[in-house]
Amino acid sequence: MDYTLSWDADAGGIRYIDQTLLPGRCEPALCTTIDCLARAIERLEIRGAPALGIAGALGVALAARTSPHERMEAFLRDVRGAAEQLKSTRPTAVNLAWGIDRVLARIERADSVDEARRSAVAEAEAVVREDEESCRTLGQHGAGLLPDPCTVLTHCNAGALACRCWGTALGVVRSAVRAGKQVRVIACETRPLHQGSRLTCWELARDGIDVTAIPDSAAAYLMRKGGIDCVIVGADRITSDAVFNKIGTYMHAVAARYHAIPFYVAAPLSTFDAGRSEKDIVIEQRDRRELAYCGDRQLLPEKVNVLNYAFDATPLSLVSAIITEEGVLCPPYDLLSRSGIGPAR
Ligand code: MRU
Repeated sequence: MDYTLSWDADAGGIRYIDQTLLPGRCEPALCTTIDCLARAIERLEIRGAPALGIAGALGVALAARTSPHERMEAFLRDVRGAAEQLKSTRPTAVNLAWGIDRVLARIERADSVDEARRSAVAEAEAVVREDEESCRTLGQHGAGLLPDPCTVLTHCNAGALACRCWGTALGVVRSAVRAGKQVRVIACETRPLHQGSRLTCWELARDGIDVTAIPDSAAAYLMRKGGIDCVIVGADRITSDAVFNKIGTYMHAVAARYHAIPFYVAAPLSTFDAGRSEKDIVIEQRDRRELAYCGDRQLLPEKVNVLNYAFDATPLSLVSAIITEEGVLCPPYDLLSRSGIGPAR
């Protein structure tokens, strides 16, 4: 598959697959301004925590390349403003702020505007490369946890489309398949924006991996029937006490614990925010229209309120293991709160 997003040096911008068009069309898009990138993130054309980290890193590089200022002070003001604009687009996935801060820190160490521009692109490209390496390594660590044959339930899209390529939860599946295991995936459709049916099913089917879509509400019943060997999801942020991921993840974790099914989270260290806890985190709430309409079709009477949380928090006590590029973390996770992995406060 093509890379989900990358720096296009010839065009001087960020090239990405517009995920709102899938599964009907797989089309590349280009952003050469910060406003364009911010809009693409808000509209979920670019989405998924690691992909947001890359977008943030490339976005700061773009801001550095396009700032007209040649004096350091005005240049830094410009780039910091762009960084704040990008950070405000989506508050929950910590990778976005992580990618932004990493490139910003590199720029702030530069001695000249010229050096800042060059090093910003180099640092952002390092973020891109490392994302691919982390996904492939964590995939191999996670593949060892899967029985052969097995059926894995997943929620949302934590695949190649949510990263540079390969994926986190789906990276584990890909690595297991590559190792010769027989893996079948049950993809929850993931209402209201259908990242499971639109994106997970699209990318797995395209790679020839056995995938079946279900409504989110069918997951617990399938577990009860004995049809699921484990659950693997990605994460938007891992604090000292909880995993933040797509709304609906928590109910799968509760159902998995009730049915004694392992519940795994696959995420790179850039998703960790171990210095914070659940109560510190803002959960994004999205537009009423996402629930009230399906395309042009109205699904909800006028004037009825909605609660449209984009993410929920699953207590770590329900997580059987966290699969990272550094290895598999098992309970108790007190190591997390002690190590403080994640951005500085
Ligand atoms: O709103 P989205 O589509 O950006 O939400 C994405 C998720 O919740 C993913 O599961 C998460 O970012 C992990 S991606 C490897």
